[in-house]
Amino acid sequence: MRAISVPGTCVIGLQWGDEAKGKIVDLLTKGRRYVVRYQGGANAGHTVVVGDEVYKLSLLPSGVLTPGVTCMITGGVVLNPAKVLDEVDELVSRGITLDGDSLKISDRTHVILPWHFAEDRVLDSSTGGESIGTTQRGIGPCYRDKVARSHAIRLGDMYRPDFRDRIHHITAEKNRVLAAMVADGEFEPLDANAIHSQYAEFAERLQPFVADTTELLLTSLECGEQVLFEGAQGSLLDVDHGTYPYVTSSNSSGVGISNGSGVPGKYLDRVLGVVKAYSTRVGGGPFPTELEDDTGQYLRDRGNEYGTVTRRPRRCGWLDAVAIRYTARLGGVDALCVMLMDVLSGLDEIAICTAYEIDGRRTTAFPSHVDDLRRVKPIYETVSGWREEIDHITSYDELPAAAKGYLDRISDLIGCPVDVVSVGPGREQTIVVNESLAKC
Ligand code: IMP
Repeated sequence: MRAISVPGTCVIGLQWGDEAKGKIVDLLTKGRRYVVRYQGGANAGHTVVVGDEVYKLSLLPSGVLTPGVTCMITGGVVLNPAKVLDEVDELVSRGITLDGDSLKISDRTHVILPWHFAEDRVLDSSTGGESIGTTQRGIGPCYRDKVARSHAIRLGDMYRPDFRDRIHHITAEKNRVLAAMVADGEFEPLDANAIHSQYAEFAERLQPFVADTTELLLTSLECGEQVLFEGAQGSLLDVDHGTYPYVTSSNSSGVGISNGSGVPGKYLDRVLGVVKAYSTRVGGGPFPTELEDDTGQYLRDRGNEYGTVTRRPRRCGWLDAVAIRYTARLGGVDALCVMLMDVLSGLDEIAICTAYEIDGRRTTAFPSHVDDLRRVKPIYETVSGWREEIDHITSYDELPAAAKGYLDRISDLIGCPVDVVSVGPGREQTIVVNESLAKC
């Protein structure tokens, strides 16, 4: 069957995550058949503010807050069943309808099990160098088991007659390996019976949501229905194309959409790249434009830069146009959404990293090896800041001239127009520069 149009719109983060993608997804959700979360797990955190209500989600797509839209968690996601059920319960208790029609979870998602948390703790602290600083949510170990295959459990496996046997077999194996990995006296063997009964209960509660999301998505896209793909984390954390090994374990750049959802590229059209007006990073790894000074603290305080999932203080720095140009090209980004612009008010000058110097050579290419990235000296261009607060501004024209100048410069350096500017967490604090956006 041939595609009638190209109906897939994608929202991806272009930095190290926490770019406020949830707000852009929320803005674009209306009228979509599906909003799709296709990679990552409960390591992600997205916040959506509707009126006075603040919703913090990890696994459920941000689209769940828009009535009439079906949200999907596809096979590329690693599923923490307790967490997703908690999020469902919380939203239902706040009056949001979530049933088998409004939420579909792929039977191909891989399930996070208790041993994944223990493995995450042990592995993260044993890199031999700087630790990765994972979120300790068992994400990497679950993806590792997925690739290794022998000890993995997918959501669909939990409804098969051999589920109990598989849990017993894998628990015995994991107990053996963990006993060798964990320091003496600190390892409490896992109890297969307890795990089986807990996960059998999860399976029963999740059953109404379980679906073959690949089939549903392909059928929908073949009919020309509009679908929105919601990336988690940011492109610089992509396991293949990010700042390896200081990355997450899924493809969090644009390249992850097809493998995580099962949708071929021919259905993916408009890609929106979401960036903060500055940079942040959580966990270990190089960060060329990091500011470990009062300006960094100013950004952290004004931007409330503390992890949604772990509450860790985020590392803050200037916007890095070299890194973003790389991830925008990697993701085939059509336009930018610049978030948290209001955080920059009050600064006399703002610096933008326009190139790197490595061993005395100037480059605008993003290094592929982490050791080179560590040696990078950022080359900055300084532009004027603005003193006034902008969180009440609703049109691009009303922004201070210096703010417009900053946005223009970012757009030039990255090579994409700016379609949206966000000046605060609320839905109404959004300046849509490209009015045709809502129709894309
Ligand atoms: P993991 O995804 O828990 O394995 O963590 C690997 C790295 O990705 C760590 O540096 C985390 O801080 C980072 N990370 C994972 N998820 C997010 C996110 O949603 N926002 C920002 N950083 C993240």
